[in-house]
Amino acid sequence: MSLLSFTVFLVSVFSFFSFLRPAPAAYEPKEEGILLNAAVLTDLHIGPRNPILQHNINKAFRNASAAKDGLDALAILGDNTMDGMEQQYSLLYASLTAHSKAEHNIVVVGNHDLWGMGSYLNGKNRFISYYNQSTDSNIDDIYYHKVINGYHFIVLGTESDMHTTAHITNAQIGWLDARLAEATAGGRPAFVFHHFPVGRVLEPERLEAVLKAYPNVLYFYGHVHRALGANTYTQAGDSLYYIDVPNFDGFSDDIFYYRGQGIQIEAYEDRVLLRARDYIRGEWLPDYEYSVPLV
Ligand SMILES: [Fe+2]
Repeated sequence: MSLLSFTVFLVSVFSFFSFLRPAPAAYEPKEEGILLNAAVLTDLHIGPRNPILQHNINKAFRNASAAKDGLDALAILGDNTMDGMEQQYSLLYASLTAHSKAEHNIVVVGNHDLWGMGSYLNGKNRFISYYNQSTDSNIDDIYYHKVINGYHFIVLGTESDMHTTAHITNAQIGWLDARLAEATAGGRPAFVFHHFPVGRVLEPERLEAVLKAYPNVLYFYGHVHRALGANTYTQAGDSLYYIDVPNFDGFSDDIFYYRGQGIQIEAYEDRVLLRARDYIRGEWLPDYEYSVPLV
C-alpha cells in the first residue's frame, strides 16, 4: 500500500465519524444566473508546524464545497506543502479526496513544493504524479489547462527551482498564448493560475505582454502572503486583472490562528464577481468584493 493510499485510508476512517460534526451551512451565489462557481486558496504550507492546520484545511475544503448548487472547481495556488515531502503531499491529497466535493480540484506548484527532493526534476515529477493519481488527470508537465463549464483554467508552473523567483520558458509562454487565444475566442474570461505574481517571474515583460494581448484575463497568484487590502485587486491593462490571494495559513504570533481566507469566483454572462471569503469560518468578507466587467 502506497503512502498516499494509506493516508487516504486513515483520513477516510476519521471522516467516517463526520456525522458527529455539523455539516457546514450551504452558501449561495450573490446573484441568479451563475455560470461557474470556483474557490481559490493559496499557500497552505502543509508541514509539521502545527497539527491544527490540517483540521482547518479539512474544514475549509468542506466549507468551500457547501455551495448550494455545487462547486465547479477548487484551486490551490502553490506552496501547498512546506517542503514537498511525500507525507505532506499525501496529507494534501487525502484531505482533498475526503473533504473537497468540487467537480475539479486544481493544484498549482509553488516554490516550497519543489524543495527538499534533491533536484527540480524530482520535485516536478512528484507534483505531476500526485496530481494525476489523485485527481484522475493525465497532465504531462508542470503547466496544464482544464476547461470547466466552457471556461478555461490555465495553470502556469516554474520550470526550474530559482528559489523565490519563477522561470517561465519561451515554450511555456507560447503555450500560454495559444491557450489564451482559445479561451477568450468566444468572449468568455480566461482564468490564469500561477503561484508567483508577474513581477516575480524572470523577464516579466514577456509574460505580461501575452496576458495583455487578450481580453478578459484574470491572473490569480499567491506567494507574497499579503492580507486582503488595496493590493488584492489590480487592473493591470484594458481588461487584464491581477488577483493577489491571501495566504491560507496567515502566520501570526498565535499558533492556533489561521487566516483561512481565499477568493470565490462567480462568473455571470456579463461579468465576473470576485468575493473574498473566510473558508474556515464560512463567512463572506464583503469589504473585499470586486466586479470585473467583460468587454
Ligand atoms: Fe508561501
